Amino acid sequence: MDLFEFQARDMFAAHGVPVLNAVVATTPDEARAAAEQLGGGTVVVKAQVKTGGRGKAGGVKLAHSPEEAAARAGEILGMDIKGHTVHRVMIAQGAKIAEEYYFSVLLDRANRTYLAMCSREGGMDIETLAVERPEALAKVPVDAITGIDEAKAAEIVAKAGFEGDLAASIAPVVQKLWGVFVAEDATLVEVNPLVKTEDGAIIALDGKVSLDANADFRHPDHEQYHDHDAADPFEARAKAKGLNYVKLDGEVGVIGNGAGLVMSTLDVVAYAGEEYGVKPANFLDLGGGSSAQVMADGLELILSDPQVKSVFVNVFGGITSCDTVANGIVQAFELLASHGQAVTHPLVLRLDGNNAELAHQILAEANLPNVELLDTMDGAAHRAAELASIEISKGA
Ligand SMILES: Nc1ncnc2c1ncn2[C@@H]1O[C@H](COP(=O)(O)OP(=O)(O)OP(=O)(O)O)[C@@H](O)[C@H]1O
Ligand SMILES: [Mg+2]
Repeated sequence: MDLFEFQARDMFAAHGVPVLNAVVATTPDEARAAAEQLGGGTVVVKAQVKTGGRGKAGGVKLAHSPEEAAARAGEILGMDIKGHTVHRVMIAQGAKIAEEYYFSVLLDRANRTYLAMCSREGGMDIETLAVERPEALAKVPVDAITGIDEAKAAEIVAKAGFEGDLAASIAPVVQKLWGVFVAEDATLVEVNPLVKTEDGAIIALDGKVSLDANADFRHPDHEQYHDHDAADPFEARAKAKGLNYVKLDGEVGVIGNGAGLVMSTLDVVAYAGEEYGVKPANFLDLGGGSSAQVMADGLELILSDPQVKSVFVNVFGGITSCDTVANGIVQAFELLASHGQAVTHPLVLRLDGNNAELAHQILAEANLPNVELLDTMDGAAHRAAELASIEISKGA
């Protein structure tokens, strides 16, 4: 989960990283009041959107009075920056910047470690710098256990070309930013620019933080960062039910057990669908232990998507055997019917693996309406795609 800049700023402040005072505003009037609250001097009005390049897009503007802050906020609020509408601005104290630097620390999956990056040349175009003059961007691996201690911080800033007093004043900020990274279970902490002001203070002027959702259970307070407005309504419902679901833009609902199997099911459905002009409608992994309730929840969610015309249930029985899944499907149909949501969409099932025969027997006896059982994944994907296209042509 990515944070807004103002959230990152608050988080930095809580961990002792030097930041400037700032207030969030959603209207020009609030922006004027915020600028007054900050002392009435020069402020910066900054679009709060979760994308880079705000400055270049005109989403970061100086204002020398509360009146001007209101005017700039009026211009920035409602702006579209790379497909993100600006609903909020952050009014921050104006800094007298002498120099702009860059620092980030992130999870380096490819090398199974953490990576700190630092440069004397921060500001708006770090991506270009990284490509055109990679030597100007220091990259230092960080061990998960020792982290960024005093010695590592000194190594990072030295490699970026900082010396003497300047190096000595930046290193502790780098250590504090590592403190944020660890304490908050982040996968990215980026400060661009980290500035030196005219009176020599080191301040984080911008902040990007991505949090590791796998660690949410350790951080009940991170719930406040969930951006409920931006979430897809289907995905929000899936999350509430504990389902591992991603909405896609097609007509064939997909349910499977195991993320890998579901991923490859999406591939075969997409491939088979080319012939019929249809695509997978979603990713849904029921995980292990696919109980009737989970199957019912999954089916209910997928069938409530008006774009969905057919459903492909692809299960490979392992520890959770096929007969358990088959019973789950039968009970899910009963459960949904009892809620007045009887399944009327065509359903294609492919159940293979542990106890597949027993599963086929259970399904034959249940004789569910509009349900077809196929033996192969390819065959089932084709049939599900074909049924979706038939439903579409019926105008369903
Ligand atoms: N509080 C401030 N006082 C003075 N100047 C500022 C302040 N905040 C930002 N700036 C200036 O505006 C520039 C852009 O700001 P910032 O880094 O927050 O946005 P950005 O880099 O364009 O956005 P993103 O990081 O999303 O790409 C900074 O490099 C800095 O020169
Ligand atoms: Mg920036």
